[in-house]
Amino acid sequence: MISFLVFSGIISQIQPLVSLNMTKVFFDKMKPEYLDQIHQLEINNYPVPWSKGIIKDCIRSDYHGVVLKNSQQSIIGYAFLMTACDESHLLNMCVDKGQQGQGLGRKFLRYLENLGKYNRCKVFLLEVRESNTVAKNLYQSFGFEVVGIRKGYYKTLTGRENAIVMTKALL
Ligand SMILES: CC(C)(COP(=O)(O)OP(=O)(O)OC[C@H]1O[C@@H](n2cnc3c(N)ncnc32)[C@H](O)[C@@H]1OP(=O)(O)O)[C@@H](O)C(=O)NCCC(=O)NCCS
Repeated sequence: MISFLVFSGIISQIQPLVSLNMTKVFFDKMKPEYLDQIHQLEINNYPVPWSKGIIKDCIRSDYHGVVLKNSQQSIIGYAFLMTACDESHLLNMCVDKGQQGQGLGRKFLRYLENLGKYNRCKVFLLEVRESNTVAKNLYQSFGFEVVGIRKGYYKTLTGRENAIVMTKALL
């Protein structure tokens, strides 16, 4: 049974959220010492991963960094969220390959949505690769709507790819 436990500097109490298989998972705060593990997950899960330098900058910044851990305290997912000027901007969200398809991405997104609401944001915004069908399905089924396209926004292995810009009102 998976039980989700929430951590955040803001939501300070650890609370069970939901159950799935037989594994406990927890949300925890991103820490500088996680850099190598996050970078490895990034390499494992993206065709064109963020560099270690970008991840380091995100950890150092005042973005909300969140990690998803299993009961062995291994990091199985992570996200960076920027909240500013009523806007909550999802910069990265990843669930490790071996753990995908169990509902963790949806729970992670719900957690991040609540983090944005707690920070009094009115809009949840993100960019997603045009080719990333899984993520687009997740975001659309979560209530995000397409509001624009950034042409050639992402690098690919062979060139550039458009980003789909999506938003959701935070009520
Ligand atoms: C995108 C990602 C976070 C989704 O995480 P996940 O734990 O697999 O997602 P969930 O199991 O919660 O599934 C949520 C929804 O995603 C979509 N989805 C999941 N797997 C899918 C698949 N194989 N094919 C199509 N859609 C799929 C479905 O809409 C699903 O909802 P449903 O189960 O109600 O049908 C994960 O695939 C990932 O980390 N990918 C690599 C990094 C990445 O692309 N991040 C997004 C950057 S914008």
